[in-house]
Amino acid sequence: MKIGIIGFGAIGGFVARSIRDNVLRKYEVGKIFDLDREKLKRAEEEGFNVTSSFEEFLKDSYDIVLESASQRAARIYLPDLLNHGFSVLVMSGGVFSDPVFKKEAEKLAEDHGAKIYVPSGAISGLDGIEAMKFAGELKVTLETRKNPKSLGRADTQEVVIFEGGAREAAEKFPKNINVAMALALATEHPENVRVRIISDPKVHTNTHTIVAEGNSGKMTIKVENVPFPENPKTSFLAALSALQILKKITQTLVIGG
Ligand SMILES: NC(=O)c1ccc[n+]([C@@H]2O[C@H](COP(=O)([O-])OP(=O)(O)OC[C@H]3O[C@@H](n4cnc5c(N)ncnc54)[C@H](O)[C@@H]3O)[C@@H](O)[C@H]2O)c1
Repeated sequence: MKIGIIGFGAIGGFVARSIRDNVLRKYEVGKIFDLDREKLKRAEEEGFNVTSSFEEFLKDSYDIVLESASQRAARIYLPDLLNHGFSVLVMSGGVFSDPVFKKEAEKLAEDHGAKIYVPSGAISGLDGIEAMKFAGELKVTLETRKNPKSLGRADTQEVVIFEGGAREAAEKFPKNINVAMALALATEHPENVRVRIISDPKVHTNTHTIVAEGNSGKMTIKVENVPFPENPKTSFLAALSALQILKKITQTLVIGG
């Protein structure tokens, strides 16, 4: 499987190096595209094939492209990638908070025989939520608690900085709250996912507590994530979840969600 990578930051760099180091034996890294010259220089020094031009990037062919850049980048590049028939692993899942864009992307993927993957990212339990959904509608709450630094703030006391729906959370906190959108996608009803974001100087992990309730019962999941050293806004688990989904799509024996 040949993978192209858009964005050689915390997640893209980690995935590229993991593949180079044979963590995913069925993959090879094709081109890496980034707009930041420093990042490209680093990637090139590490032996990767790089480009600063999206047009150049599109000239190669890939079994899958990892979007690990930004929500804005996902919005710009996803249609062209799908038009080329490339499946895409979208880390910036918040991009699907726009239902029109989501529908268009799904249609393009279907028309061109491609798939769109949204990983569980910094959370866990999407498999359970998708299963619970078969028994009827769900009510889901997500409480995200992060150190102010991870939120680009300087609070000295605990502050609730957001309370509202998943769609609004993904739009207002595009770099922090892709998880809200992943939950909304899994439940298929963003309006049923309520989000609360807390800036808390006492914590040093990115903590997400998810409670899902439906006709089959109640599920509570708490994930306490170590921030990625290269980018504290990103949880280490998010980068690992990209590896998990890449591995899963090549497996014969598929376990869990
Ligand atoms: N799904 C999740 O749970 C989850 C968790 C963490 C991060 N994310 C998202 O994944 C994405 C990547 O995260 P990261 O921590 O690796 O970010 P990062 O800032 O460390 O790296 C992003 C890289 O993309 C490059 N880039 C940005 N815009 C670009 C563009 N338009 N074209 C090409 N390259 C571009 C940057 O130069 C940078 O090298 C972000 O959107 C982030 O919000 C999702």
